[in-house]
Amino acid sequence: MKKRIFITATNTDIGKTYTTKLLLREYASRGLKVGVIKPVETGVVDGVYPDGDVLLALVKELNPALKDLSVSDIVPISYELPAAPFIASGGESFDTKIVLKAIEKLEAYCDVLLIEGAGGIYVPLDKELMILDLIKLTQATVLLVTHCSLGCINDTLLSKKVLEDAQIAHAITFNCKKSDSSFEKVSLPYFEAVNFPILKTSSDIDTLCDVLYNL
Ligand code: GTP
Ligand code: MG
Repeated sequence: MKKRIFITATNTDIGKTYTTKLLLREYASRGLKVGVIKPVETGVVDGVYPDGDVLLALVKELNPALKDLSVSDIVPISYELPAAPFIASGGESFDTKIVLKAIEKLEAYCDVLLIEGAGGIYVPLDKELMILDLIKLTQATVLLVTHCSLGCINDTLLSKKVLEDAQIAHAITFNCKKSDSSFEKVSLPYFEAVNFPILKTSSDIDTLCDVLYNL
């Protein structure tokens, strides 16, 4: 098995794809053959995969061995409705075998495989499975992307607790946006008081790559 890194987040729209792209570029710049998969994407309409298309274009540029892939190779399961897969699929059961097969196919061409989840850790894939179960199944190490808006303390600690309880090796990155100017004043003091490692997506991507690769 190659190095697998599962990128999840405290919620949807937090910056999983944004961070995944930065990680792909950084690992590729180190001479590693990179791959990427988004096992399930919702909100796919008229053949447009908002995440899949972007990730495919980038990974082809960074790893020419993947030039013949199509978007369904890196997004094996997709639905139109932009909702949790359980809802978007109309309640059908989630086929983990399709995902594992797609991962194995991609791994033949790469040293490190990034896996972007959907939404956050407790997003239901079907009635039984959640993203957490998919993480366990892939045996990947995890990068939790969190945000820097008010509420990030609670959101970060909740997701962290789930990963700890499941004994999943993980790192956390803060994807601060321009609008998050209050982070230093209203959230950072807590994290500093408890010596919480602050790795920012924008400025600490090289450290993150090291940490994740060695987890
Ligand atoms: P889903 O896969 O839909 O759950 O979302 P996501 O977690 O992958 O979020 P994504 O990376 O797509 O980021 C959401 C939006 O915020 C996108 O339009 C990004 O371009 C934008 N965005 C995310 N992070 C940053 C950032 O650090 N800076 C800026 N300028 N834009 C960002
Ligand atoms: Mg995304």
